Amino acid sequence: MIWKSERPSNIALIKYMGKSDIERNKPSNSSLSWTLDHLKTTVVLEQINGVEDVWEPLPTDFPFPMSEKGKQKYLNHFKRLKDHFSVKGSFILRSGNNFPADCGIASSASSFAALTEVSCLAFSELSQKKIDIYKKAELSALGSGSSCRSFLTDWVMWDGEVIKPIDSDIKNLQHMVVIVGEDTKKISSSQAHKIVPTSALYQGRAERAEHRLNDFVSKMNKECWPELFQLSWEEFWDMHALFETSRPAFGYFLADSFDVLRSARFFWQQEGDGPLVTMDAGPNVHLLWREDQVDLSLKFFQENIAKRWTCLTNIHGIGFHKV
Ligand code: PMV
Repeated sequence: MIWKSERPSNIALIKYMGKSDIERNKPSNSSLSWTLDHLKTTVVLEQINGVEDVWEPLPTDFPFPMSEKGKQKYLNHFKRLKDHFSVKGSFILRSGNNFPADCGIASSASSFAALTEVSCLAFSELSQKKIDIYKKAELSALGSGSSCRSFLTDWVMWDGEVIKPIDSDIKNLQHMVVIVGEDTKKISSSQAHKIVPTSALYQGRAERAEHRLNDFVSKMNKECWPELFQLSWEEFWDMHALFETSRPAFGYFLADSFDVLRSARFFWQQEGDGPLVTMDAGPNVHLLWREDQVDLSLKFFQENIAKRWTCLTNIHGIGFHKV
């Protein structure tokens, strides 16, 4: 028997960084993300006669490299799901993205969400046990915390217990990620979660993030766009400051990351308008534009990005493409 599911990725504007319970991936603070519907992982599951579960890349337009450690983490999560449903037997799981996995966009959210989704589909059928979306998200969070936010759309909050959609008149955001580096991460986000408590700035981090999240949610309307920019800007700097002040310090910035950020800041000053800007645990810069800002986003792209970097975007509604 074969089952197939896909889930999208998401980008956090208020970050989950630091855990109150490492084993169960309980976050130290609530987080808020925008679902990236155009960036998806597909997982196909097939029952086999073997003695163990195996993972293989799903043939797609983009290679899906997975380290030995990554593969083990993925298979462990799968085992956890099997145990939850008391399902026995072996399976082959094949996964692939509709976007390049080597471009520095965190794909763990979509890949763990898609694995959880397809497993719940298969195992609820095999075991006759029903499961709702909130329970799926809870199980997914045990594999990768941020993946639970990929079960809803489009603004999603996770407080460590449940995911919740947040209503706003800001819809159909256009996403651009400026690729300044493609190397695989030296420090994974799982390691980062463990190291950040050594930073002196970790003291008060949960309170700052919660406060910023409440502020952000109370201003989630088009009129407050500049304030939302300010809050997302402060938030990713806060997370990266934790990295750079940990003991030992680590970080993801490249010189070009600063150049892109400076361009975005100057653009806001010049135009009095611009994108929400954020960075994940990586060197690339994510920009989110309102749907009425398409011309402005192209101006920014032509003036600042086109000559130096590759950018991946869903602007113009023609799918995720390189420009
Ligand atoms: O889900 P994890 O354990 O890979 O953590 C991801 C954390 C960040 O991507 C850095 C921030 C976030 O909230 O998505």
